[in-house]
Amino acid sequence: MAMIAAQCPDINVTVVDLDAARIDAWNSDRLPVYEPGLHEIVIAARGRNLFFSNDIDSGIRDASIIFVSVNTPTKSYGIGAGSASDLTNVELCARRIAEVANGHKIVVEKSTLPVRTAESLKRVLQANTNGYKFDILSNPEFLAEGTAVADLQTPDRVLIGGDDTRSGQLAIQALASVYARWVPRERILTTNLWSSELSKLVSNALLAQRISSVNALSALCEVTGADVDEVTFAAGKDSRIGPKFLKASVGFGGSCFQKDILNLVYLCRHYGLDEVANYWEQVVTINTWQKTRFVRRMIDTMFNTIAGKRIAILGFAFKKDTNDTRASAAIDVCRALLQEKARLAIYDPRVRSSVILKELADVTGLSPSELEKCIVCEPDPYCAAAGAHALAVLTEWDEFKELDFELIYRSMKKPAFAFDGRNILPHALMRGIGFDVKAIGKSLSTGATVPAESLEGISA
Ligand code: UDX
Repeated sequence: MAMIAAQCPDINVTVVDLDAARIDAWNSDRLPVYEPGLHEIVIAARGRNLFFSNDIDSGIRDASIIFVSVNTPTKSYGIGAGSASDLTNVELCARRIAEVANGHKIVVEKSTLPVRTAESLKRVLQANTNGYKFDILSNPEFLAEGTAVADLQTPDRVLIGGDDTRSGQLAIQALASVYARWVPRERILTTNLWSSELSKLVSNALLAQRISSVNALSALCEVTGADVDEVTFAAGKDSRIGPKFLKASVGFGGSCFQKDILNLVYLCRHYGLDEVANYWEQVVTINTWQKTRFVRRMIDTMFNTIAGKRIAILGFAFKKDTNDTRASAAIDVCRALLQEKARLAIYDPRVRSSVILKELADVTGLSPSELEKCIVCEPDPYCAAAGAHALAVLTEWDEFKELDFELIYRSMKKPAFAFDGRNILPHALMRGIGFDVKAIGKSLSTGATVPAESLEGISA
């Protein structure tokens, strides 16, 4: 919404929410979301044509186009628990719009939703008694966190799905004309509603599938002596494959990938397509396995016990340049380490310690005083590493690449272990200092690749 306000000074954009504290934060100097470049565009447009308010009903009445952008977490109860999306908030929005609207409105699904949700939205809106007409559009968002502003500025595509009726087509054109202020027309794709809804799930499923494919192969690299970074670099040079989303890691996280795949799986099962459901479910299974494998490798390496040992956790966000921790691999890794009775010293440049402690309280069920005994959040990586038996990199923050590893090594217990869950550390340099480095998809014994000279004579 900030980008629309920035690009279209003649359009008034009002963001409304039930959560007063959140709206207050959007109206303050400390925005609730850390995203590079976002602060600047919010400050430039706020009070001019971008407003944040708790007056939901006025927001609905004053708008021609309403974006429904509420969260749709995976259901934790009842039918579909663990895989279907919880649509309570979407339905509540639709009912409120139907009740309050004072004329024709275009209602846009912006939240990622299971396919055919637009149909339910339509039914709730059309069941209103005041006789106004609504057009429903699907306009999924493809931005990635950490690069959101650039992604919105120059999107690969904008997708708008709508009904094949005259008013449906007019609604599509109305929304397309907003984006067309800054997005080239050929990048604005229009489809039917179901294609648009499914495209979002499919895009995320295909991206996550690439990561799980590489992560699965990282295990093979470790036992064969191949180096996963060399293998993916070579594979990615094929223009049909391409280099993006082939970075092996401790596992993907974030609010979208797992949720959207589970949605896809649920949808396939619903239509009796069990083979298709099983196929996509494997992407999530491998991701879970990768996180478990990472922890197992840590324990194996550290003489089969980590009880009472201090471990420095570098990074808690699900990726760099965000303070978002939703479904972060760090949560599962930390939970498993705590189950083995390790003591954790956690540092993340952007995630507040209260958020880290809440996430870990939720997954471990430990009380704040119990957590205090086994977790400490540190203000920098050096404090986290001091006195630690090992460090584990779980988020690829750039600052971790250039730490003073001599200093860190001296402050750690020996042997000093480093587990690189993102393959970003300077492994050779660290080994030279004395670290025992283990990285994803690198040989189990040393992590080093076979030097070229040792291959001499073999090729013949
Ligand atoms: C994703 C989609 O990219 C975006 O289009 C959609 O709108 C929302 O979901 P996001 O979750 O913000 O975006 O971040 P993304 O960059 O996709 O990363 C997701 C996870 O995959 C992160 O944990 C990241 O570290 C991990 N990842 C990404 C890898 O492990 N390897 C890679 O090669 C790429």
